[in-house]
Amino acid sequence: MRALAYHGPKNVSVDEVPDARIERPTDVLVRITTTNICGSDLHMYEGRTGVEEGKVLGHENMGEVIEIGNGVDRVKVGDRVCLPFNIGCGFCKNCESGRTGFCLTANPGNAGAAYGYADMGPYDGGQAELLRVPYADWNALVLPEDAQEKEKDYVMLSDILPTGYHGTELAQVGIGDSVVIYGAGPVGLMAAMSARLRGADQVFVIDRQPDRLKLVEAMDATPIDDSKGDAVDQVLELTRGEGADKGVEAVGYQAHDHAGHEKPGMTINDLVKAVRPTGRIGVVGVFVPEDPNAADELATKGQFAFDFGTFFFKGQTMGTGQANVKQYNRQLRNLIHRDKLNPGIIVSHELTLDQAAEGYQRFDDRESGWTKVLLHP
Ligand SMILES: NC(=O)c1ccc[n+]([C@@H]2O[C@H](COP(=O)([O-])OP(=O)(O)OC[C@H]3O[C@@H](n4cnc5c(N)ncnc54)[C@H](O)[C@@H]3O)[C@@H](O)[C@H]2O)c1
Ligand SMILES: [Zn+2]
Ligand SMILES: [Zn+2]
Repeated sequence: MRALAYHGPKNVSVDEVPDARIERPTDVLVRITTTNICGSDLHMYEGRTGVEEGKVLGHENMGEVIEIGNGVDRVKVGDRVCLPFNIGCGFCKNCESGRTGFCLTANPGNAGAAYGYADMGPYDGGQAELLRVPYADWNALVLPEDAQEKEKDYVMLSDILPTGYHGTELAQVGIGDSVVIYGAGPVGLMAAMSARLRGADQVFVIDRQPDRLKLVEAMDATPIDDSKGDAVDQVLELTRGEGADKGVEAVGYQAHDHAGHEKPGMTINDLVKAVRPTGRIGVVGVFVPEDPNAADELATKGQFAFDFGTFFFKGQTMGTGQANVKQYNRQLRNLIHRDKLNPGIIVSHELTLDQAAEGYQRFDDRESGWTKVLLHP
């Protein structure tokens, strides 16, 4: 089959690789119809993870089931499914309590497994013609009859929509809240959509890319361009000097100032300033325990100076981590089915698998207008 493989920093290509196949009775085999490029893929693409060469990437996957293992009961051949990026077993302590992003058995020695991702287990990704789905009865979300018609919307259930939602859940965004979101990439935009869904009053999203800030308006939220003045000051001004009730981090460890200098602690420390005393902060942007290619010594160990004094003094709370996609994808699917959510509006490009390398390069360059890229193998 053809699949997008990692070969080194900024070097990916579509290669002929052995077909994905059923390996265990609980697997199904999916013919991929849509698979997205994610901001998380860019950390690998830029050589900022320990991903091994030859790894097939792709964790935002949707397609048609073409074969099922002997132990699969629920999922049927012909089903259209969207796969959570996390792979869970369904029977460990964390999966049982809904924390499927931290499965204790699917990636032994670590908490959490995923398709096509650094340190997330031996699983190949779905930027390919075929994908093996482990524990399919547990993991696969079966889609209704409008699956193909709303493919662009449903495929967002694999990661960014539940992840944006998870940010608002960690921050406990509720009715009438003001919310400040750092990052207007796909995850930040989905966090804004989710904050609206949860009844927030004011929703501010900070970035400096004009095309992305424009999409913030499409989310019925207020864009804040931090290249045009201090973003914290702007949030304080818009919240009577108090700060926002809730905050969401959707940038991650490669956060940079608008001159382009990477500062991994920048958004976290700014959130502590921009959120009011006793406010809650949800961090879904990725941070890593090791970053050997980071610019400074502390950052190579995944560390940065955190303004803990102010955080404590303000009595704030912070929640972190990978999104447990399965906790939300069924409910969000229903809202898409009933035309109450349309996350596909952020999609800017739909490419063939053969155009994937170009898609990576242009999305990574944050080229104007490249807000979310879908591949159709
Ligand atoms: N927790 C999870 O389960 C999960 C899932 C998916 C993605 N992620 C992570 O979420 C983060 C965002 O993903 P994405 O797909 O939206 O990525 P992206 O790279 O497309 O978007 C990041 C945005 O942040 C902006 N930015 C950079 N520095 C900034 C700063 N200091 N202040 C404000 N904005 C800044 C960039 O201009 C860009 O628009 C990534 O770290 C990704 O790995 C986490
Ligand atoms: Zn993703
Ligand atoms: Zn598990």
